[in-house]
Amino acid sequence: MSTRDRFVTPIDLSGMQEIFCDVAIFGSGIAGLTVACELPSSLNVVVFSKGLYSDGSTPYAQGGIAAAVGELDDPAFHAEDTLIAAVGTADPMAVAVLTTEAPSAIKFLIDHGVHFDSENGTLALSLEGGHSRPRIVHAGGDATGAELSRALFVDANTRGVQTINDAFLVDLLLDLSGAVAGAVVLIGGQPNLVRFSQAVLASGGAGQLFSSTTSPSTCTGDGMAAAYRAGAELADLEFVQFHPTVLMSVNDPRPLISEALRGEGAVLRDSKGERVMEGLHTLADLAPRDIVAREVLKRMHDQGVDHLFLDARSIASTMNRHFPTISASLVTQGIDPSRDLIPISPASHYSIGGVRTTVNGETSIGGLYAVGEVASVGIHGANRLASNSLLEGVVFGRRIAQRIADQPRSPTNTLEPQLFQRPSNDPITVNRDEMRQAMDRDAGVVRSRESLQRLLSYLKPIARKSAVLDQASIETMNMVLLDQLMVQGALARNESRGAHFRADFDQLSDLWQVRHLYHRGTDGSLELAKSDELKSEGIVAT
Ligand code: SIN
Repeated sequence: MSTRDRFVTPIDLSGMQEIFCDVAIFGSGIAGLTVACELPSSLNVVVFSKGLYSDGSTPYAQGGIAAAVGELDDPAFHAEDTLIAAVGTADPMAVAVLTTEAPSAIKFLIDHGVHFDSENGTLALSLEGGHSRPRIVHAGGDATGAELSRALFVDANTRGVQTINDAFLVDLLLDLSGAVAGAVVLIGGQPNLVRFSQAVLASGGAGQLFSSTTSPSTCTGDGMAAAYRAGAELADLEFVQFHPTVLMSVNDPRPLISEALRGEGAVLRDSKGERVMEGLHTLADLAPRDIVAREVLKRMHDQGVDHLFLDARSIASTMNRHFPTISASLVTQGIDPSRDLIPISPASHYSIGGVRTTVNGETSIGGLYAVGEVASVGIHGANRLASNSLLEGVVFGRRIAQRIADQPRSPTNTLEPQLFQRPSNDPITVNRDEMRQAMDRDAGVVRSRESLQRLLSYLKPIARKSAVLDQASIETMNMVLLDQLMVQGALARNESRGAHFRADFDQLSDLWQVRHLYHRGTDGSLELAKSDELKSEGIVAT
């Protein structure tokens, strides 16, 4: 028995209903739907959606999609802003691809039926944190994500792409050459064996690892966890972006109050009514997100309060028109922005790390691509610039579709199951709420060796593999796994950089101006490594 075999208990695939396709796309947000809409119609493409297409993060996206389409703008300025926010660990070539291809991504979306807001016959552009120029293209004011989802979903259907809802990815299956060739997917709770030639993970991030989050309940990191179990390399998991202005609310997810409000003139105030960011950064309230989130948290601690305020009174007259989604959330909480200050605090918002890919979306496993929040192509470094995430889904989704069209693969029949199991057949009974609160407390905006070690000790006894093909058990297993990976990565990175702030190492370290690579070792334990350099292979900017 090989070392590897001791850690693999095969799933019994016999008797499962089988589904065959050329390309399986896991995820129905902007990234997955972009791939679906760009693939040649000669391919049999199936989109597996964890819930409905409207249940993921994309429809929640407010601010918009960044692109240098303004008269005085240029992709080079967009790249410069992205690299500044990233604090030294973004891949400059991948950023060049993102920003250079951004204008054509906007055109692609318009051609696929997206209605963006316009002013005097040209695209209306707004400003967000870290951007040196107004370059955020938006739709329905703050309903950009909802409009993108709507249009791409309609377009994918028109092209004959099949979507299967309530389809939960359990595990990826490799063939004997180590390439991906299938997956176990629970559809309506029933296990199915999906066989394909190529697969695209577009399954979103892991915001639900934290109790306070803007990410919907579908974001439990299932794609990252399945890819890790299958042996794919992950990167930069310790970088989790916390959004500074999330409405105080018991809702899960908590409603986002877009940075675009600050772009129009709203300002942060503390519990004494004083401006928070004035004098602290040249961009004041529009400083990069990590800086604002830390400052909000620090002021909360100093003043012994659990929230600060966003003062949107100066823009109240345009709120309904420019920010209808936010205005509706405020109404439900009884807040009148023309009179009241809006109570906010930071919450987890975006998984910067994920499955490591090239700029063509290839992962370290043959036949497996990843795109969007599940992926880590290296454009965000230590801190994502506002409104680069929807853009990422379109730019790299299109590149993946091109790659698949250029390099078709033949399906294989022999599959090797990858589900890691403990001998026990018990369902996992972890208290998720408690675990998520522990992540907020000990791996949140500010971490330390002490808090991270406390978290690891808490996670160790509850970490185990689920043998039960049950969505809730496997989701929890995925969350525990990702918590452990993230915490170990955060413990190893002895510095503060962007969204990763260590109270006990509060400075940048030259030793850590690298990406952090996560890999499952042959004995099943995590192997961490630093990337050699910030290099990009196979880049062809269009
Ligand atoms: C926002 O509208 O503030 C969020 C935009 C983003 O996360 O990029």
